[in-house]
Amino acid sequence: MVKGLVEETLRYWGPVDFISRRIAKEDLELGGTHIPKGVPMMVGLATANRDPERFSHPDVFDITRPDADKHVAFGEGIHICIGAPLARTDDGLTPHPAHRPGTLILLST
Ligand code: HEM
Repeated sequence: MVKGLVEETLRYWGPVDFISRRIAKEDLELGGTHIPKGVPMMVGLATANRDPERFSHPDVFDITRPDADKHVAFGEGIHICIGAPLARTDDGLTPHPAHRPGTLILLST
């Protein structure tokens, strides 16, 4: 139950809405938009976590959601958050060191 609460909270209301400093390595078609190689981009993590093609009823907060942990609240790929395993521990209080100072994730068992 705690795992579902943590993962669904990260999906539904993760503290990092978007990440920047990304450059397209090749020409892309994304959601009907052409992105040329070399273009700097921002990636909307919050938007991806509410993608109706990925999550059913994405605007519903549901801690029993079976695939809640498929969110991208920790990013993805080579720069995925190295603190994710720590943040996912269920024994305490995890402040994020860099993003949204003052945001605390309260976890209890
Ligand atoms: C709920 C808690 C947390 C969330 C939602 C979170 C989210 C993120 C996100 C979205 C990124 C950027 C990933 C990217 O650029 O692709 C990131 C990077 C990072 N996070 Fe976290 N984080 C959390 C907790 C922590 C903790 C507890 C630590 C350290 C103890 C930490 C350390 C880092 C570091 C060092 C990076 C940079 C990784 C890199 O650029 O290779 N994070 N985090």
